[in-house]
Amino acid sequence: MTDAPPFTPLPDNAAYVGAVQLAVDANAAYYGAGESPLDDDAYDRLFRGIQAYEAEHPDEVLPDSPTGKVAGGAVVGDVPHTVPMLSLDNVFSAEQLARWIAGLERRLGRPVQAYSVEPKLDGLAISARYHGGKLVQLVTRGDGTAGEDVSHGIGTIVGLPLELAEPVTVEIRGEVLMTSEQFDAACAKRQAHDGTTFANPRSASAGTLRAKDRPYTCELTFFGYSALPLPPDDASELAIRLRELPHSEIMELVAALGVATTAATPVAGIVVSTVEQIQERVEELKAARAELPFGIDGIVIKADSAADQVEAGFGTRVPRWAIAYKLPATEKITKLLDVEWGVGRTGIIAPRAVLEPVELDGSRVTYATLHNPADIARRGLKLGDSVMVYKAGDVIPRVEAPVVHLRTGDESEIPIPEVCPNCGSEIDRSQERWRCVKGRGCRAVASVLYAAGRDQLDIETLAESRIVQMLEAGLIVDFADLFTLTREQILDLDRMGETSTDKLLAAIEQAKTRPLSRVFCALGVRGTGRSMSRRMARHFATMDAILAADSEGIQAVEGMGPEKATLMLAELVELLPLIDKLRAAGVNMTEPGVTPPAPGAAAGVTAGAATGAEAGAGAAGGGDGDGDGDAEVPGAEGAPIPAVELPLTGKTVVVTGSMTGKLADLTRNEMNELIEQAGGKSSSSVSAKTSLLVAGEKAGSKRTKAESLGVEVITPDEFATVVAAFL
Ligand code: IVH
Repeated sequence: MTDAPPFTPLPDNAAYVGAVQLAVDANAAYYGAGESPLDDDAYDRLFRGIQAYEAEHPDEVLPDSPTGKVAGGAVVGDVPHTVPMLSLDNVFSAEQLARWIAGLERRLGRPVQAYSVEPKLDGLAISARYHGGKLVQLVTRGDGTAGEDVSHGIGTIVGLPLELAEPVTVEIRGEVLMTSEQFDAACAKRQAHDGTTFANPRSASAGTLRAKDRPYTCELTFFGYSALPLPPDDASELAIRLRELPHSEIMELVAALGVATTAATPVAGIVVSTVEQIQERVEELKAARAELPFGIDGIVIKADSAADQVEAGFGTRVPRWAIAYKLPATEKITKLLDVEWGVGRTGIIAPRAVLEPVELDGSRVTYATLHNPADIARRGLKLGDSVMVYKAGDVIPRVEAPVVHLRTGDESEIPIPEVCPNCGSEIDRSQERWRCVKGRGCRAVASVLYAAGRDQLDIETLAESRIVQMLEAGLIVDFADLFTLTREQILDLDRMGETSTDKLLAAIEQAKTRPLSRVFCALGVRGTGRSMSRRMARHFATMDAILAADSEGIQAVEGMGPEKATLMLAELVELLPLIDKLRAAGVNMTEPGVTPPAPGAAAGVTAGAATGAEAGAGAAGGGDGDGDGDAEVPGAEGAPIPAVELPLTGKTVVVTGSMTGKLADLTRNEMNELIEQAGGKSSSSVSAKTSLLVAGEKAGSKRTKAESLGVEVITPDEFATVVAAFL
């Protein structure tokens, strides 16, 4: 992203009038019930179009225009603000930010010594008035000069204590929002009550804050971002400090009074002094965004000192000493065109939304997950609906909710399959995630193909068409049968010559010697992909030890919670016959170089300890082993510390970008295996704990983050030298 999002030019006065009306309506909804017909990005473009038209036609500017207001069209309340609650101007790129900084410093006639850089929280501005330390009134921003009294919300907002640590009179301003947990809880409550859900955390917060007589309450969260003397001309010691202290120290004071600030979050406000440092922090906040438990839609940069703020002053609707660096939208409204039903390699039947393509967080989104049929019902989705779609970072895009008030009446019910869409068998509907009654058998081709894949058994010459032939000829029912195929059986297959048969047999023979981590991965345990399989193998060392483990034993593996362990046990019970077949065929069941843990006392799978429960985790991956939620766990347990010092002993290594040179052909999984063989831990995310980043071509935010954290960054060639002994 290099510049502001494009806007649609308004050709004439009629278009301008229409645009202003749309913006006013959208604003009223945004600040009102919280259900705007426009997403943030569309609103920004509309706003810029209006601004551009007004610059060309200053005599046509309408009094209602959102450009002249702090928050145009907002639900105006009757509680006057002590000091106007202003908005912020936006920049959309590093260049624009640099220009803004230069402009501010030019206006001041000196460099700004300190900038405060903090997250722009994606919620609603609110003013909280404390008298003698007691929270007495909550007021929304409204039109910036007067807001609505929402004091009925007192007591439901985490972070806004009823009483401060000191009996002071002060006005704290900040953002009210819902964390993802609070949002889920709010949706569940609303669902139980009237069968609908909220479109997103922001509109849920807006609706909740203004709702006076809902039969249920939903919890909200507050983070303060400023504090003012109350009344504005107050002459108390606190009031004087609030006028004189730098912003960062006011934030410390607010936190000391017991009000939440972002200081306690991974995106705490920091003070820096150069444009480069601001940029670095912007990159860090960008990188942290997808993992945060609350939404941020930008980064706010403020001149920290009171003197700089006073001297820079205010424009008509915004301060000149602060700016919002907007991040690309993670949420947009688009059309739900179709729902496709896929069957994963474990037989899970999963719906997928086909969308009118939208640009979200820098990528084009056409498909989004719909989780399961219950989810469709819960959200009340229909074909043709306008839907709010969310995507940030590497997360799988998801449909959040229909935008019900944009319905035209042309929407139709989403057809729900009666039988397995892959094989026509019955559907097991006993869990929220539906499954074909044939389970893995339904997707035999996909599961054999997955098992033979490069990161699993790596049977290079086994093509999908060949697997289909073998299944159709009844030669195999699962991938374990590959190991007992005879030369004659293979030769009998269509288009199979002597040479290719021998090649395939040799590849199959070779596959018997793969380490346990790969054999385990080949099983396709739901919710368990490559990195979890490596951790399992390195922890247990043998298949016997895995099968002997109980839930507690399995939970000793990094990244294994109780739910995942229960699922794993259930899956292992189901997979026992397959494992036995593999063992009988002579497939390796141990991890080289790892010693098994001392035998545990508790009975494991072999003693029938597992239940048939199919708890939570695991998406119906398309057969590539990546749809299983098996992310690398930062700081995950890697190889046990061996007696001999290996080149990466004690180091946590992250790989990013495309590998080159000797490492060019290695998959990410193979790179991670290499790291672990060389004694290191592999991780997918950069943090202060990272020792080394291997940055290949087109390395992006991970590289920036590593550099800002002072983590050593090396090229693939340099890394190849470090691990030369293992290549
Ligand atoms: S300071 C005079 N700091 O963004 C300066 N605002 O687009 C007023 N916001 O109305 C705002 N996070 O609702 C400030 N760290 C932050 C913020 C923040 C979110 C919101 C706030 C404001 C809007 C402006």
